[in-house]
Amino acid sequence: MAARINYSVQNTLCLLNPLNYPVNAKTTHFKTGLNFSKNLIFPRKLKRPTFCTCAVSNNDRQSSEAAETFVLTTPLYYVNAPPHMGSAYTTIAADAIARFQRLLGKKVIFVTGTDEHGEKIAAAAAAAGSTPSQHCDVISQAYKTLWKDLEISHDKFIRTTDPKHEGIVKEFYSRVLDKGDIYRADYEGLYCVNCEEYKDEKELLDNNCCPMHLKPCIERKEDNYFFALSKYQKQLEENLRQNPNFVQPPFRTNEVQSWIKSGLKDFSISRASVDWGIPVPNDNKQTIYVWFDALLGYISALSAEKEQPDLQTAVSSGWPASLHLIGKDILRFHAVYWPAMLMSAGLDLPKKVFGHGFLTKDGMKMGKSLGNTLEPNELVHNFGSDAVRYFFLREVEFGSDGDYSEERFINIVNAHLANTIGNLLNRTLGLLKKNCQSTLVVDSAVAAEGNALKDAIEKLVEKARIHYENLSLSSACEAVLEIGNAGNAYMDENAPWTRFKQGGAASEAAAKDLVVILEAMRIVAIALSPVAPSFCWRIYEQLGYSKDHFNTVTWSGTKWGGLKGGQVMAQPKPVFARIENKTELEDEAATRKPVKSKQKKPQAQVAAEAAESLISRN
Ligand code: MSP
Repeated sequence: MAARINYSVQNTLCLLNPLNYPVNAKTTHFKTGLNFSKNLIFPRKLKRPTFCTCAVSNNDRQSSEAAETFVLTTPLYYVNAPPHMGSAYTTIAADAIARFQRLLGKKVIFVTGTDEHGEKIAAAAAAAGSTPSQHCDVISQAYKTLWKDLEISHDKFIRTTDPKHEGIVKEFYSRVLDKGDIYRADYEGLYCVNCEEYKDEKELLDNNCCPMHLKPCIERKEDNYFFALSKYQKQLEENLRQNPNFVQPPFRTNEVQSWIKSGLKDFSISRASVDWGIPVPNDNKQTIYVWFDALLGYISALSAEKEQPDLQTAVSSGWPASLHLIGKDILRFHAVYWPAMLMSAGLDLPKKVFGHGFLTKDGMKMGKSLGNTLEPNELVHNFGSDAVRYFFLREVEFGSDGDYSEERFINIVNAHLANTIGNLLNRTLGLLKKNCQSTLVVDSAVAAEGNALKDAIEKLVEKARIHYENLSLSSACEAVLEIGNAGNAYMDENAPWTRFKQGGAASEAAAKDLVVILEAMRIVAIALSPVAPSFCWRIYEQLGYSKDHFNTVTWSGTKWGGLKGGQVMAQPKPVFARIENKTELEDEAATRKPVKSKQKKPQAQVAAEAAESLISRN
């Protein structure tokens, strides 16, 4: 159990006196039996919350020039269909990482976007009775809107149909051509349109079915341009030797090593049969292969909004990327093809490629092509963005596969967000209101002197930081939740509600205990903010801080000691409404007359429905 401090009343009065009010000021009696100077605890000037400054340290508020830049990308999503939970998953994870890096004081460029060319997109548009370009506009917008509803804080959204991107792809192609790495040849093989990739017969299932999409591959014979990937075998091997952390998680490195070792085949980078794409420079009968086009989006996204950039200006705006976040199905493109293309063009390689696992439904990858998807708009609409973000990041170990179940979803977010954190905050603020007029009696640094809880929390925060750094997002959440658990245990062991009734020194100690717990909550609000930003803002607001303060806080604000004596907390208000599970809801609905829902649909749902209706027309 945490050690307790027993200050004399006189000492406490000094500690309670943040503005050095005279200690002989007229005293007033509270139910607690403690004698406090009214002015000491509720000086007029402190009626409004006072903001501590220690949360925003000047050390990690670096000037933008000095700040290290962290460039982070999600894949550019195919616009054959509206986003599903699998696509949202990568983006939520990327957003948590981006927010964490910003907390560290880095200048972050967070890139996402849509991959809009190729056969698959043209076919989806035709099936919807739409032109490819109209179709891309609608679906790309559905992604943008969903990102807004999920509070994704991207800095760049690139569409591969953006003319500035097309210019950069052509320039890159010409560089690789000049290097002598592009040649023309016939190719015959089995093609999976959903993967947009020629397949090796030995990786296919019966009937030449693609193992990912469970659909037969098509025999194709084409006269194409090829990229001389095989030339880069040694350099790629060398890169993995020199940069053992290039592919993450570490177990995926073996996979990449064995692809390279088994011998790299040149791959075709143009399509004679596809119109919907960027024409090959000097041969407009062919279009550039969708992957050779889309990967360049990571670079073209970096250029300034309105400029018509060349490759070099885009590169100098932030390349190389610090981290490509992708699903494991597209690892070969990112860890083999893309580095070789960059080597050919004389550009730096990204620093890291992280291949996460799949969200599955009944053990199968959730996907647009299989049609077994989970609707993110519906989840956000029903449960809010914090719950969705927290559940998937906490529940699925980043890097491994994870299955979704609604029951598990409800149990996790209720237990962690509503109970462990939300309830603790609410109980503590309730006690503070009742016994201390919602005002902190002492600085949290003083309240926790010699307190073992403080040491435990400091260790947990450091643990969370290391986990975030290592992209172990679930473990980072777990470490933060442990702070909540420790706070609850502290509250139960010390039972401040009983001690307030005892009055005197016991009451005084109870008032300090509340400060200690609220300080723990303040730390939770910062440390969990990359994962559940709105939820954390609500916690912060309850502690009497402004939005500006929350928006400028940095990781160094997790240091113990932010809350100051005299700081006034807000009126206690739940920060996370418990989700009723279906059976409870159904029971309730059965005894109630139907009520027309006045709740507005989130914008993303409206956009996705428009996209669905476009697709299902015809
Ligand atoms: N357009 C390419 C990427 C080009 S990047 C230059 C593409 N698009 S995609 O829309 O099919 O997939 C985008 C990302 O979503 C991939 O990282 C993929 O792994 C991820 N996911 C798609 N379904 C998923 C799950 N069921 N679970 C987790 N992620 C999944 O590939």
